[in-house]
Amino acid sequence: MTYIKQLADHQDEIVTLKGWVYNSRSSKALHFIELRDGTGLCQCIVSLDEVGEEIFEAAGTLKQESSVEISGKVVKDDRSVGGYELHVTDLTVLQVADNYPITPKDHGVEFLMENRHLWLRSQRQWAAMQIRNTIQFSIHQFFQKEGFIRMDAPIFTGNAAEGTTTLFETEYFEEKAYLTQSGQLYGEAMAMAHGKIYTFGPTFRAEKSKTRRHLTEFWMVEPEMAFYDLDMNMELAENFLRFIVKSVLDKHENELEILERDTTLLKKAAEEPFKRISYTEAVEQLKSDKTKEMLDKMESDRKEELSSIKDELEEIKKEHGSAKKWRKAQIDQRIKEIHTRTDHIEEDLRNIPVWKKSAANFEWGNDFGGSDETILTMQYDTPVLVHRYPAEVKAFYMKRDPEDEKLALALDVLAPEGYGEIVGGSQREEDIEVLKARIAEHDLPEELFSWYLDLRKYGSVPHSGFGLGIERTVAWICGLSHVRETIPFPRMLGRLRP
Ligand code: 4AD
Ligand code: MG
Repeated sequence: MTYIKQLADHQDEIVTLKGWVYNSRSSKALHFIELRDGTGLCQCIVSLDEVGEEIFEAAGTLKQESSVEISGKVVKDDRSVGGYELHVTDLTVLQVADNYPITPKDHGVEFLMENRHLWLRSQRQWAAMQIRNTIQFSIHQFFQKEGFIRMDAPIFTGNAAEGTTTLFETEYFEEKAYLTQSGQLYGEAMAMAHGKIYTFGPTFRAEKSKTRRHLTEFWMVEPEMAFYDLDMNMELAENFLRFIVKSVLDKHENELEILERDTTLLKKAAEEPFKRISYTEAVEQLKSDKTKEMLDKMESDRKEELSSIKDELEEIKKEHGSAKKWRKAQIDQRIKEIHTRTDHIEEDLRNIPVWKKSAANFEWGNDFGGSDETILTMQYDTPVLVHRYPAEVKAFYMKRDPEDEKLALALDVLAPEGYGEIVGGSQREEDIEVLKARIAEHDLPEELFSWYLDLRKYGSVPHSGFGLGIERTVAWICGLSHVRETIPFPRMLGRLRP
């Protein structure tokens, strides 16, 4: 059995492929079957002369997603998808599929989400999951080469790590338990045993908001390092992200093309140093005239584009009636593109006034909302490291800035092109008395944190760490507009099935 990905090693040989019919069309003496096998696509050409009547007929009836075994000769053809085609010598039908619900036409997102178990087979979804796999693998590669130990934090927990408002409560025999929001507190204990560790697992937040960046179940990788201060933490986060982006660029030219991802800025993220600004500088920038001008310009550009593509749409619709067949197909394709683009522009036009208001009214001391992050990151080509947030909006465990007690030694990494926060982290408070006071200020029950306080009792050291959300990272790198397409089976408000 050969996989499509390996065809380059089998030029002019006879091989057998096993897979599913992705697409098919026929002419008088030929059937063209586009086969997918999970590793790629390959055009298989079935000719009557070569296979005889019986197989030729069977091949002609195959509908989308029927499963087949196809043997044939591997022929190099640069115009063909994947660069090789198969001149078929034999074909066995495993199962005939009929009325596969996801056709090449445009489906609504709700329909596709209901059919997520099948939608995963579509090219764009396939490409995103291939990239997700590489992101996860490169995370392990990076930390392993840097001498980190991978350790696993529990999923049932007794404590809140990231505030008490987004906890999923569950029953643990006769006790109350929560699904973990973050492995960090356990990670800190592990770092005191092994120096540099990372946890990587599912985390849960009862996020009641429907946004394009929130899931209720998401995967997070969390490094934690003894003897690291905030600067070392930022340095690590930057090198780490650069490594991930580079790995994807090196391996996934094809998948990024399927996703129609413009890679200009990804290449910058892989090469150029990231911008670092303090929270206070970020606030100034948000409220600046420059930001207002940028948004004004964006608004007028979008309006102009909208009216020009609407004119084009009128034109080509008129042309459609009398157009030749090939031209009709071209026009249909363009109409589809214009609809997609129109949706995007209209969404921007709805958003821009909201963004403007949010930026203008922003006050020092607030946490950035999604809109604020979007605006900030639009103004940079590389990811931005924002450091030293107001302690009030951050978690209890963060160490304060000795230069200014109002600030926490926190860092967030905001991804460019409007994506926003993908990393959150900090230096941790290492003084037991200060930490006890913070636990009380946050109304957390001290007895539940006694084990955590022990870490400050027995050989306390400065230490730091951060968490990277996998789905938001996949969304950014793949250029997807919503996290629902970044994980095989997303869990979010209103979505528990399939
Ligand atoms: O900023 P957060 O809440 O930080 C922590 O949980 C720390 N304990 C991490 C640490 O220092 N070890 O979450 C970290 C990242 C975010 O930047 C984001 O990428 C992701 O986790 N994230 C979510 N992703 C999808 N859906 C949600 N509801 C998310 N909440 C956080
Ligand atoms: Mg955060």
